Amino acid sequence: MSSTAVIGLQWGDEGKGKVIDSLAAEASIVARYAGGNNAGHTVIVGEEKYVLHLIPGGILHEGTINLVGRGVVVSLAALVEEMEGLKDRGVPVEERLRIDSRAHVIFPYHCQLDSMTEVWRGAGRIGTTGRGIGPAYADRVARTGIRIADVLDPDIFRKRLEASLAEKDAILSKVYGAEPEDHGNLFEESRELAERLRPLVVDGGGLLASAYGAGERILLEGAQGTMLDLDAGTFPYVTSSWTGTWGIAGGTGLSPRNLDRAYGVSKAYCTRVGEGPFPTEMEGEEEERLRAQGNEYGATTGRPRRCGWFDAVQARYACRLNGLDGVVLTNLDVLTGFSRLRVANAYRLGEERTLNFPAETGLRADLNPEYVELPGWEEDISDIRNFDDLPPSARDYVAFLEEEMGVPIVQISVGPDRSEIMSGRNGEVRLWS
Ligand code: IMP
Repeated sequence: MSSTAVIGLQWGDEGKGKVIDSLAAEASIVARYAGGNNAGHTVIVGEEKYVLHLIPGGILHEGTINLVGRGVVVSLAALVEEMEGLKDRGVPVEERLRIDSRAHVIFPYHCQLDSMTEVWRGAGRIGTTGRGIGPAYADRVARTGIRIADVLDPDIFRKRLEASLAEKDAILSKVYGAEPEDHGNLFEESRELAERLRPLVVDGGGLLASAYGAGERILLEGAQGTMLDLDAGTFPYVTSSWTGTWGIAGGTGLSPRNLDRAYGVSKAYCTRVGEGPFPTEMEGEEEERLRAQGNEYGATTGRPRRCGWFDAVQARYACRLNGLDGVVLTNLDVLTGFSRLRVANAYRLGEERTLNFPAETGLRADLNPEYVELPGWEEDISDIRNFDDLPPSARDYVAFLEEEMGVPIVQISVGPDRSEIMSGRNGEVRLWS
């Protein structure tokens, strides 16, 4: 019996796709538990690049079932489009994909509300991906949401959609002053898409419980990152789901007692897209250089990512909350050529010094990170596959991060390809128990 989770420790885009891809090779099931098509997981296989948004990262592996869990919000059109894209490239998607009947559906009016709400927020806007994520989760909590199971039943769906459209139209016109939307054939189109998906729709919790009971390997795939978590993150500049390990049971139906291992993925520096607090954010030339070296542009929206130094205060907080067995450190190669590297290991809040990540980061202008400086390295490290062959300052940098986080760094990635990875300083660790 074994289940393993892979979680983003920062603001998303940590390189989880590659870690998930390598673990998925030995998994029976890969399950997504949160987020929607706001995510973008990049997997490089040889010359081929795949960017997955909704479909879990085991889809490229023969014999792996990929479950879109009940905690994921699903745009039916985006899902079908992603399936078609993979099918065109020869991936037998139907064989490998399953969707939880309890997952909530994102409709076009959620996307419209997403952008209208952002306009309404003005200077306080979150910088969402505009995919309707927040409004779809809000409907779930407000109990006006519509699940895949509901769309599959025409009578239930008609009633629920009519009620929802009436409410949304009133909000859009009376609150936001928008022109009434023409919903076209939303009922028919959604029904048609749902019928195409019907053979893949399952009770996800049941599927996972039987697999776990039968001793199969289950991989729980995180989306976004801990600092974008609804409760743990830099609220309100967060996404609308639980992205950490605490979201897994709720978002899949797997009992929390059946989660055996969890690994966090962190870049060797920080990035974030969208608005919100980012204590170690760089400025000017330094940031541009890191962005160019790391090709730091969003996989979903193409937006340039904000770049910053590694934040050990934030990393410790994320490790503690998730309860991790190890960390995979990614993009170490991107730091090549910086003569000195900075790591924040404490924050100053006015007169106070703290080692903990405070709740008020969004509000306090007097938060300043305290930095430790470490020497950088000049050598290209992307061909290195043994920790001991890394330049001494790269080894020291990794060791410093590990000590700050208090969790072993079990793997270090030095490039986007599947093969560009090595074990940490303690030698090889089997990530599957
Ligand atoms: P939403 O999830 O579209 O509502 O966006 C909320 C915040 O989360 C915004 O700052 C987005 O840029 C950010 N976000 C959502 N998904 C991702 C992701 O997969 N990677 C990085 N940032 C994300």
